[in-house]
Amino acid sequence: MTEIGKDIQKAKAILEAGGLVAIPTETVYGLAANALNPKAVAKIFEAKNRPSFDPLIIHISTFAELHKYTSQSLGQLTEIANKFWPGPLTVLLPKRDIIPDVVTSGLERVAVRVPQHELTLSLLSSIDFPLAAPSANPFGYVSPTTAQHVYDQLAGKVDYILDGGPCQVGVESTIIGIEDADLVVYRKGGLAIEDLERNFEGKVRVNDFSASNPSAPGMLKKHYSPDKQVLVYKDGESYDKETAFLRFSSPISGYSYQFVLSESADLAEAAARLFQGLRALDQMPVKTIVIEFVPEVGLGRAINDRLRRTIAEE
Ligand code: TXA
Ligand code: MG
Repeated sequence: MTEIGKDIQKAKAILEAGGLVAIPTETVYGLAANALNPKAVAKIFEAKNRPSFDPLIIHISTFAELHKYTSQSLGQLTEIANKFWPGPLTVLLPKRDIIPDVVTSGLERVAVRVPQHELTLSLLSSIDFPLAAPSANPFGYVSPTTAQHVYDQLAGKVDYILDGGPCQVGVESTIIGIEDADLVVYRKGGLAIEDLERNFEGKVRVNDFSASNPSAPGMLKKHYSPDKQVLVYKDGESYDKETAFLRFSSPISGYSYQFVLSESADLAEAAARLFQGLRALDQMPVKTIVIEFVPEVGLGRAINDRLRRTIAEE
């Protein structure tokens, strides 16, 4: 039985006993287990149907805990972490032995973040272990931004869903690390690359997604995929009536099935509504979803990255 509620004590007890709890964050809901308990972590992969080679992010409540799990300090990333944690930022750092290999899929670096959500931060500060948590969706599907989304897809597979309301940011965290003194962005996300550039002295490099990128084995090309066929909108093309449209700021005339991300063309609002929109379109009585890209600036870069993956080949 899966229950939804706001009971931190209950969530804590389940996690301490090696169970799974879905947690709210500002980005998307996570499917959490005690990161120091390999058996509990293994349950995450089972529940998500996720290939076990995909490493997980660990969530901590404060900066000060970082040294317990990583063998190197933030170094050049200190200022950025100071400024943006808690927030939609994940940092890759060399791991200590206390982090089991099942968490990092045997990689030398562990992904760490301090999420920005009151309920989850109080849960994290009440336990003495970090939480390993991927997004709480079945592998390859759209990430959940409400407790109900988690329930719809993982009921029976997660012990408790901590309901923290709808996620404010709506796309996953930006993942970064240092390589040869450059700041490398491994996944575009809820923290805009422009914000990183403004707050980093050196060079910022963006690793565009690729199925064969060895430093980020989990960043598969095909992801965030609705079950329906997804195509990119072409101006002047006429579409079947059984087509649904994902639009940035304005609907197109003549079609009944549409989802507009932000009527005021606000990219933050569009990001917050993106996954909800993809889910809504997937449930409409149509055969095809036609997407429109958004402006490639700020959070638009993370939105377009997710959209490209919905149409990528396997
Ligand atoms: O916003 C988020 O980051 C959400 C919330 C729940 O915190 N989590 C999330 O986790 O998006 P997930 O597992 O769906 O995506 C994490 C990505 C994966 O693509 C994974 O391959 C990559 O991070 N990753 C995790 N640990 C890594 C590591 N040690 N080295 C390289 N990539 C890593
Ligand atoms: Mg995910």
